[in-house]
Amino acid sequence: MPLVPMRQILEEAAKGGYGVGAFNVNNMEQIQSIMQAADACNSPVIIQASRGALKYSDLIFLEKLMEAAAIKYPHIKTAMHLDHGNSVATVKTAIELGFTSVMIDASLLEDGKTVASYEYNVETSRAAADLAHQTGVTVEAELGALGGIEDGHGAGIAADDTTHLTDPEQAVDFVQRTQCDCLALAIGTSHGAYKTLRYDKDGNPLPPKLALDRIEVIAKKLADAGYPAFPLVMHGSSSVPKDLVDIVNRYGGKMPNAMGIPLQDIQFGIARGVRKINVDTDGRIAITGAIRKVFAEHPEKFDPRDYLKPAREAHQKVVEERMRAFGSAGRNDDYKPMTLAEAKAKWYAGAPAGVK
Ligand code: G3H
Ligand code: 13P
Ligand code: ZN
Repeated sequence: MPLVPMRQILEEAAKGGYGVGAFNVNNMEQIQSIMQAADACNSPVIIQASRGALKYSDLIFLEKLMEAAAIKYPHIKTAMHLDHGNSVATVKTAIELGFTSVMIDASLLEDGKTVASYEYNVETSRAAADLAHQTGVTVEAELGALGGIEDGHGAGIAADDTTHLTDPEQAVDFVQRTQCDCLALAIGTSHGAYKTLRYDKDGNPLPPKLALDRIEVIAKKLADAGYPAFPLVMHGSSSVPKDLVDIVNRYGGKMPNAMGIPLQDIQFGIARGVRKINVDTDGRIAITGAIRKVFAEHPEKFDPRDYLKPAREAHQKVVEERMRAFGSAGRNDDYKPMTLAEAKAKWYAGAPAGVK
């Protein structure tokens, strides 16, 4: 079965009232563990690759791994998504590689660091949507800018900065003008393992204070404007579980004050319209902890399979936990897969041609 357009996965999630995890991949083991988790949970899944991942895998390896995932797990509804595409050119590359969904993140300029103007965001996102929709590919755009920084991407906005949160007053205009299929919100989450600046009196980190109320406000404004159940997206949504961080620290790591987004906050969002939840850091921590443990306990080992296998298992476990917590577990067989051609005919029949 070919990969499916992400919009179908999100619309079905809206019908079922659940969220779908979008898990980042860079290499074979990560794709394997995520697909294995989806299979074990019978869950639809979004696998996503950042620009850093595309570069790391030299494009061709990721393309073939993605193909392998679809061949090995033909029964799993899988969308392959570009995470934080910084330009129409990057979006084009991803589409040519066979991605069924792209994010255009024009909340920042192409450098991935400078916060962009609203007009720049609208125009760039619209150009990306015009291009992607020609082939039935789904488009995610971002309104407001996220905190944190990863692999050089991100404006480095502090975790407690509220000035770059999504403005609910702009949401309808943004969706109408960009024609995006789903909307990434900035509500106080941030990328990475250090999502908070709040501490209790003993100096222990507390979860960040999120602007969760905006989710409902934005969903309602969109519904009132004729976009009922418009899929919303939460980035920076790793929960950074203490037990996984403890494993890293126990075996020689140094991740003091790591803190993530509590699962209850994500579930609160899902109940109000969040359909895609981005999780990368949790997988990274699980993998790192498992590898550190093998290195610490068996310093004599040097076969990569000896540490990559437990790493893959630890990653799979955390992905399965997210699939259950987000409610996508058991929902894979609820619907029949759509092709990109069908998506184009259904949703984008009037998409303009010839966008450069
Ligand atoms: O955007 C954030 C994702 O976690 C991807 O991170 O750019 O380091 O691959 P990356
Ligand atoms: P985390 O760093 O919280 O896993 O967020 C990942 C993300 O938003 C990818 O786009
Ligand atoms: Zn992100």
